[in-house]
This record gives sequence, structure tokens and C-alpha cells, in this order.
Amino acid sequence: MCGIIGFIGDRPCSEILLGGLQRLEYRGYDSAGVAVWDGAQIAIVRAEGKLSNLVRALVQNPIDGDPGIGHTRWATHGRPSEQNAHPHKAGPVVVVHNGIIENHLALRAELEAQGRLFASETDTEIISHLIHQEIERGATLAEAVRRALKRVVGSWAIAVLSETEPDRIVAARMASPLVVGLGEGENFVASDIPAVLHHTRRFMFLEDGDVAELTKTDVRLTNLDGAHVERPIRNIDWSPTMAEKGGYKHFMLKEIHEQPRAVTDTLRGRISLEQGRVILDGLSDEAEYWKSISRVVIVACGTSWHAALVGKFWIEATTRLPVEVDLASEYRYRNPVIDASSLVVAISQSGETADTLAAAADAKRHGARILAICNVVESSLPRLAHHTVYTHAGPEIGVASTKAFVTQLAVLYLLSIYGGRGTGRLSEAEAKRKLAELVKLPTAIGQALRQRNRIRRMAERFHKVADFLFIGRWLNYPIALEGALKMKEISYIHAEGYPAGEMKHGPIALIDENMPVVAIATRNHVYDKILSNIQEAKARRCTVIALVTEGDEEAANHAEIAIPVPPVPEDLEPLVTVVPLQLLAYYVADYKGTDIDQPRNLAKSVTVE
Ligand code: G6P
Repeated sequence: MCGIIGFIGDRPCSEILLGGLQRLEYRGYDSAGVAVWDGAQIAIVRAEGKLSNLVRALVQNPIDGDPGIGHTRWATHGRPSEQNAHPHKAGPVVVVHNGIIENHLALRAELEAQGRLFASETDTEIISHLIHQEIERGATLAEAVRRALKRVVGSWAIAVLSETEPDRIVAARMASPLVVGLGEGENFVASDIPAVLHHTRRFMFLEDGDVAELTKTDVRLTNLDGAHVERPIRNIDWSPTMAEKGGYKHFMLKEIHEQPRAVTDTLRGRISLEQGRVILDGLSDEAEYWKSISRVVIVACGTSWHAALVGKFWIEATTRLPVEVDLASEYRYRNPVIDASSLVVAISQSGETADTLAAAADAKRHGARILAICNVVESSLPRLAHHTVYTHAGPEIGVASTKAFVTQLAVLYLLSIYGGRGTGRLSEAEAKRKLAELVKLPTAIGQALRQRNRIRRMAERFHKVADFLFIGRWLNYPIALEGALKMKEISYIHAEGYPAGEMKHGPIALIDENMPVVAIATRNHVYDKILSNIQEAKARRCTVIALVTEGDEEAANHAEIAIPVPPVPEDLEPLVTVVPLQLLAYYVADYKGTDIDQPRNLAKSVTVE
């Protein structure tokens, strides 16, 4: 996720913009830029890499004035570079943008056909051209922004300057956060509160479809049709560190709550419900892509490996091809069977995990086709892979992965439908049904999050235990592994994840009244089996915490504590059942007082073997 700041007042604003961007640095970015009205024109300075590069560029090429806008970019369309960094200019119009424009290819073709020249590979540049076009047709800046936004499909938070009306900033929001900060004789716009918190504590939170016109002394809000709208002014008393975490105590908790949005962003522009098709960035037509593939191998580490285990079930079911999953650290040393008919899917949040890179490189050497699923654009893995499908989770700061995991699942589910259609083993009707259910998932994840207070209360009771056992079957077996991994990573409590059917082959010997057992007992075709496993555990006097489908009294009665999850089609359950387990680990760790965002001995990105 990128960062936006804008300022209008009576002060030269380069320093204000840079200060705001510095306060957004913790979110991660790959390039940055500022644009200011210098009294004659809008001057722009941008730089790839860290803000210190932008500061250096500003020393060499000083610009100042007012108003101004600034941006830190986290690449989604187009690699990280100076040319792709924001702001983007078209004629007199300068734009910074967070979000994703889904119909950018069609709009770009249309604008290029009119002779408009593009200077970057970004989807954002479309917006500046569309606004410019409307200004040429006689619209005011605010009206031009409204008209342009009516043509784009996707998500946006934007801030716009124009040389035709240098006394204002126009900003707008759709599915990407944007706030207006109110000062005395000056106003601000920002994607995040910390960017401007040291200037003002009075904020208006824009809602989807809002367009704000800021002058020094006034802020006027309309909807996309130009009708006046009002938003309340709120006083924000957060400390600067609270503000960075969006008011949450830890980044991990914030990231858990960002999951509905992260999945929405990951699905955006990749689904055609009408055709029952999945369109994956840069990949050819599905029949063409799958023509020569006879087997699939998925390699990953840690949480990404758990996503791979779920992906195996999905891809096998839709393509009927054999799918193997391997820990990258094992794969690279075991002389695997691999050739040009193998598709190797390498999953990594960071794109920098040494073992995953080595496994993918090895498979590539043996002629396999490499498909990366990655969250960081232009990291090492996408550069090595033949193709990459990005998860649009935004920067993940907490070391324990949460939102990256659910977006990896979302991409794997898309890949299974792409593969099912490509191999001809999944009918159009079935693909349509699956996709229609998939797009409802962000809402279901939001519902699962509503259990947070109940989970927080129960966590207090368990924070002193020495061990946890997590059990699940079928698609929820990898989720049991993930629940256990989250617990050990951040609470330092020993936790085992196990396929429930294997419990009697070992772990049952560990169970007594001191070991809570967390069972994923949702209503699916292995429901009866897991209820039996719960009985077996209970007979050893342990406390059973069960995840149950909302309204399922039978399963709830089997457990001492039941946590309801919303009903979803059984193959999509992992995206909701993981949520209470993330929250359980989080609150247990919080009661223990561990360093949740940076647990001892762990690193976000393991770049060594
Ligand atoms: C580290 C992180 C985990 C992550 C794993 C794989 O161990 O702490 O959260 O799952 O690396 O990382 P990757 O970036 O390849 O997904």
C-alpha cells in the first residue's frame, strides 16, 4: 500500500510533504515523489528507493511552493523505478494514487489511440490523462476528477493538482483510505493519519465515492455526481505510534483486520463472473498455458507452505493433475523428478526467502516453468520466475504472516479455477459458481473477525498453559498447522498442528487436563470424523476449543468452548477458519506480554539458509 500526503496553506510545503512521507516510511515503499506549485508551474521530483534518495534529488533540483502533494509507492502495476514513481503528470494535471485500476488496459488503449503519450507503466497515469481530457472539454478540476473517476473501475485514493486551478487540491476515495486534516488557514489530505498528526488532530474520514475540494480555508465534499455530502469532524487523540498502527495495539492485529480488504484487492480485476474465467496478470489464455503441463509442484516455507498445502487440494480437485507440495528447504536437496512438463509454483510473501529462491532456481534449471505467488513487486523471486501473480496484501510489517496468507489462498483458489478451465476439467457453470462464492469471502472474513472480543476473553484463561494441540482434517488440516505456528511464533507456547485422523498415532499420548485441544469442526464432508476426534480428546479430560459453523449446536455441544465461523462453501473454509486462530494466538501472546510484532529469534524475511 502506498502513502499519500497533500498540503494547501500559506507555507512552502516541500518540508511538510517530506516530513509526512517520512512518517509513512514504516509501511514500506520502493520509490517516492513530490509535486508542488511553484507559482508558475507544477514542479515534480521523484526517486527510486528510499526517501533519502528523494531528499538528495531535491537538493540537486530544489523545488518549493504551495500547494503540493507527495507519495510513497509500493509497486503493483509496473516495476519500482523513477519513471513509475508518483506523481504522474498529463498536461497541467498531476496525480498521486493508491489502489488498483482494473480497466486500465482498455482505457490506456483508448487514450493512446487519441494520441496521448504515456510516460510510465502504471495504471495511475490513466487517471491523469482522463482528468486532463475533461479539463480540455471545459470542466473545472473538481468536475473533471468526478467525470474521470466515473470511467475507471477499481479502487482509489487520489490527490490531484492542476496548473489550471493552482489554488486547490482535489482528492477522492473508493475502497482505499483517505482522510482530510483540518488546520487554521491550511488543510491536509493523507492516506494515513500519522502523515499529518503533528499538524492537526481534526480529521474528516472520506467514504467511498467522496470527492473533496480543498482550498486554504475550505473543504467541500461531493459524491461522484457532484451532490454535496457531509462527513463528521473527529478529534483524534492517538499517540504517533498508535497512529502508525491505525489505533491497533500491534501491526499484527491491524493486519489481521485488514484481511477483508486485502482479499478484495487481490481478487480485483482478475475475475469475469459472466464468463466463469480468471484473468491472471501476464499469463496467457488458460488452455494455452496448461497445454503442456502434466504435474504441479508447489514449494514454499513457513506460513506460505501452509498456503501451498491448501492449494494442493484445490488445484488437484479442479485440474485432476498430480500436485506435490514441498518445503523449499527439503526440495532443494532431494533430487526431485522435474522436467519441462512440470509447473513449479513458488510461494513467498517477501520474495526473498533463500530456500524458496534456491528451490525455484533449481527447478528452472531442470526446464520447469516457474510461477511465483508473491507480495513484493520486483523482489528476487518474481525476477527469477517466468510469471508472477502478485498478492495485493500491501506491506506486511508483523513478522508473523496473516494478511499475506489469506491473499496467497485467494490467488491459489484463482489459480485452481484458471487451471481447471485450462485443462478442461472444470465446467464453465462450475467455475461461475465457485467465483460467485469467492467474491463473497471478504464479507465472511469480516464476520469471522467479529468474534474478536469473545476470543480475547477466552485467551486470558489459556495464556499460562505449556502446550496446545491444533487438529483439523482435509482443507482444515493445513489451517491447524497454521494455527499452531501462529501460537508458537508469537506466544512462545509449544503448539502442535496435526491432521485429526493421525492424533491416535502419537499426539493423543500427550493429552491430559493441562493441554487444550483446538479442533476445526466446521460442517463439511469430514464433519462426523472430526466430532469423533473431539470425543477421543475429551475422554482424556482436556479442554476442547472448537471452531464450529455458526448455528451448529451439535458441534458446539461437543466442545467446552465453541467459536462460531460464518458458513461458506466447504472448499473455501480455510479463508475463514484461519481468522479465529490468528486472533487466538494474538490475544494469548498479548496476555503473556511478548513482543508480538517482532518475536524473539524470528525474522520477517529469511534471506539465509
Ligand atoms: C519467515 C517468516 C514467516 C514466513 C516465512 C516464509 O519465517 O517469519 O512469517 O511465513 O519466513 O516467508 P516468505 O516471505 O517466503 O513467505
